[in-house]
Amino acid sequence: MGYYEEIKLSKKSEQHLYVQLYDAIKNHIIQGTIKADEKLPPIRQLAEILCVNNATVVKAYELLEQEGYVYKRVGSGTFVSLKPYPLSAAIESVRLPVDEDLSLMNRGQIQIQEHMVSFASATPTPDLFPVDDFQILLNEVLNRDKGNAFGYQESQGYFPLRESLVAYMRQYGIETKSENIQVISGAQQGIDVIAKAFINPGDVVILEKPTYTGAIATFKSRGAKIIDIPIREDGLDIEALEAVIEKYRPNLIYLMPNFQNPTGYSYSREKKQRVLSLAQQYSFHIVEDDYLSDLSFYHTENTTLKSMDQQDHVIYIKSFSKIFMPGLRLGFLVLPEKAYPRILAAKHASDISTSGLIQRAFDLYLRNGIWKKHIHYMENIYKERYEIMDQVIRKYILPLGITYHPPLGGLNFWLCLNEKFSTNQLYNMAVKKNILIVPGSLFSVDQKDSNCFRLSIAAVYPEQIEPGIQALSEVIKEYIESKDNKKRNTGVYTPLL
Ligand SMILES: Cc1ncc(COP(=O)(O)O)c(C=O)c1O
Repeated sequence: MGYYEEIKLSKKSEQHLYVQLYDAIKNHIIQGTIKADEKLPPIRQLAEILCVNNATVVKAYELLEQEGYVYKRVGSGTFVSLKPYPLSAAIESVRLPVDEDLSLMNRGQIQIQEHMVSFASATPTPDLFPVDDFQILLNEVLNRDKGNAFGYQESQGYFPLRESLVAYMRQYGIETKSENIQVISGAQQGIDVIAKAFINPGDVVILEKPTYTGAIATFKSRGAKIIDIPIREDGLDIEALEAVIEKYRPNLIYLMPNFQNPTGYSYSREKKQRVLSLAQQYSFHIVEDDYLSDLSFYHTENTTLKSMDQQDHVIYIKSFSKIFMPGLRLGFLVLPEKAYPRILAAKHASDISTSGLIQRAFDLYLRNGIWKKHIHYMENIYKERYEIMDQVIRKYILPLGITYHPPLGGLNFWLCLNEKFSTNQLYNMAVKKNILIVPGSLFSVDQKDSNCFRLSIAAVYPEQIEPGIQALSEVIKEYIESKDNKKRNTGVYTPLL
């Protein structure tokens, strides 16, 4: 409390008293002498200490609240929040994890040997890529545009492609304009430029728990304070979300509302609406990562938040990696009007522009309508794999006491053992039998061991699925038994008598 008594306010200064008080408290918060979640003194008490009117303190607190340094709890008072520290002030106090992120990203890249069955990779195998169509389109572009195809492209994206993306989006119920489209070199870059544009060290970002590894790494690399909220089968727990928003007043929340990675869960329509209402009420951006809404095998709920976004709060990211080819390094953002200048600056600083050659070829791909044929093809391929996978999980895995919620679309299946088990250990045992899974620890901010794991159908052929899952079930059985035996053996004493 001593630091409040030391605050000196000068009535002779040209600056209003409440601004001086605001500055003094703000500096204590930035320097950490007044800590996050600490309660500020009651208004009357501080006014007495500083010999000023109550109104001076009220106005200083209001300004601190407007700037995000404090928040009010109804009936309890005013408390210090965690954001937003100006960059220069916060950079010293926030660790920028570099090595940790690199290893996280690297661990996301799994080396697959030929004899392995990989339920780990969520990337389609190259035999599914529309290579022949692309060869024709690339030649067409080269004949038509010659050297222009190799010049720097507009940072926002090749204009004709942005126009075709507007038409493409219309098919998915999203009405937008070419001015609101930002072409990106893959969704991962999209997350990165959004983080660069909106996040300073110490700013709070809300993520789902578990979530996409690449998003964790990006937000960590910006020094964000990440709050993760457990996702349920029908989306985030809205009450928990609102409590966190109320407390931290974040700038951004990052979600995958359809066929979430890694769980495969989709938000109910009602939860989608409620998240949008919260964005309106608390004025934050929702980053919607739509890496896969296209693959809804039974036409279940897969509406995008962006198509429901009446108030322009959603930054929509579309990846083409899962439905076309990851090596194109192509995706796009649909931006709220106000977000555009910051995002454009971040994109320019990142790589100036996405490959002009690829943008031109992809533009023709969309204009010729060939994409529809390909998506239909991918849907059929994946639906077949999905159905086999669903059946064999029920046959071999569920009887082992494992829980599972069928995702009805997408590429990922999320399976959970009893809470006492470790899927890091299960991963190690499965690898020895040439089965690859992804342990849940990879999808959490703290990388803590988890009892859940992800299986994906992107890179397994139909004929591999049943033998692969049967072999995995044997590993799981062995693992559970070994744990149970260990338990039985511990704590047993033989009397010496
Ligand atoms: C949820 C999610 N977002 C983004 C990406 C990255 O996509 P891109 O290849 O378009 O950069 C992935 C890749 O797996 C993903 O799963």
